Amino acid sequence: MGKPFFCVLEGIDGSGKGTQLWLMERRMRKEGFEILATREPTQTLTGYFLKIVLKMGDIHPLTDCFLFAADRAEHVDKLILPALNENKVVLCERYLFSSIAYQTMKGVDETLIRSMHEFALMPDLTILIDVSPEVTMKRKEQVLHYEGEKFENVEFLTGVRKKYHELARRHHMVIVDGDRDEMVVHEEIWRIFKERYDAKSVQTDIARFVDEE
Ligand code: TYD
Repeated sequence: MGKPFFCVLEGIDGSGKGTQLWLMERRMRKEGFEILATREPTQTLTGYFLKIVLKMGDIHPLTDCFLFAADRAEHVDKLILPALNENKVVLCERYLFSSIAYQTMKGVDETLIRSMHEFALMPDLTILIDVSPEVTMKRKEQVLHYEGEKFENVEFLTGVRKKYHELARRHHMVIVDGDRDEMVVHEEIWRIFKERYDAKSVQTDIARFVDEE
């Protein structure tokens, strides 16, 4: 039987989180892990609503912030916690460090963001896929042209990246250089995951976010 393990991939837009999540999911299934692969914004009704609001543009930063937190509350309650209680590995693309990194850059107070996440579970492992905004802009240009989406500018993403680095120091995230061949990045992420997973005691309680600070 497996043990519960909550693993999050973070990074700025276009850093390769989606590809790495998919590679991890495929490998874990092959190796017999029971997993939930998921992402934020979620594919729940709240996530759908959030995406519609985001597309409206010109919304108050606090509206963003509350909606991401609401989506996360649903995510934790309906998907993440039940999967952990079934001793699954939860692989999640973006989680509350996205809110801290992005919403503080939009002017929301970090203490407020933290205080609205008392419900949140602390991941066992957060991996920051680190790529410079210049690189991610190049990667995404084509795709975004087709999707017609607004892409965050280099200056904004440079600020988000800086905040991620600060959070990585404070919360023991593991930083992986994402500006390499995707299979090389995958091997490193897999090795880090396996080390942490194997080392985790089955008895460890699922920690709340607030417990760590
Ligand atoms: P996402 O769908 O992951 O975008 P992409 O696929 O382009 O990486 O997320 C949409 C945007 O929402 C992204 O720019 C990051 C932002 N975001 C926040 O600002 N706060 C959050 O809490 C989350 C989860 C995402």
